[in-house]
Amino acid sequence: MVERVVALGESDMDELMRLERLCFAYHWTREQFAMGLERGVYRVLGMRQGGRLAGYIAFSLVEDEMEILNLAVHPEHRRCGIGAALLARALEVCAKKGVAKSFLDVKASNVAAIDLYLKFGYEQIGVRKRYYPDTGDDALLFRHEIRRDYDQKNQ
Ligand SMILES: CC(C)(COP(=O)(O)OP(=O)(O)OC[C@H]1O[C@@H](n2cnc3c(N)ncnc32)[C@H](O)[C@@H]1OP(=O)(O)O)[C@@H](O)C(=O)NCCC(=O)NCCS
Repeated sequence: MVERVVALGESDMDELMRLERLCFAYHWTREQFAMGLERGVYRVLGMRQGGRLAGYIAFSLVEDEMEILNLAVHPEHRRCGIGAALLARALEVCAKKGVAKSFLDVKASNVAAIDLYLKFGYEQIGVRKRYYPDTGDDALLFRHEIRRDYDQKNQ
């Protein structure tokens, strides 16, 4: 059963760090998470499965644009709809605030994430060559018109 998406806070820091280390070789630091969880520079939503944190999404909101900063699902809980549920909820939060556009970048080799973003209507708008320092991968830049999508669904 897929559970509810909830806002994460300071008390979730340790669990979030454990999940992050499992999901990324080049992972965010405690200080980077503190900017969101403690100082509210960006938002973090999560979903639990059986009491354990199974996935999270981090995104920033500036005026009418949002940027997906990170999205990760525990390896044992992948392909169960959690990534899609997290992304859908983040976009819904933004749409309700009147945010018009969403941006993100993703490694060109990350087939799973690219497939997910394309399903949500993201379109590629550019490439940054050899952008990621850990692997030398290109970054693909994606954009999505949130407001248009949300208005069409709610007509
Ligand atoms: C990308 C990621 C978040 C997807 O999470 P998930 O919970 O497994 O995704 P979902 O089950 O919600 O899948 C939604 C859609 O994403 C796509 N997708 C997910 N995993 C995929 C895979 N391994 N191969 C191809 N497409 C995939 C599919 O379109 C899928 O829809 P479908 O199941 O109907 O085919 C997860 O694989 C992950 O944490 N990867 C490591 C971290 C990462 O790369 N994050 C992205 C940073 S930009």
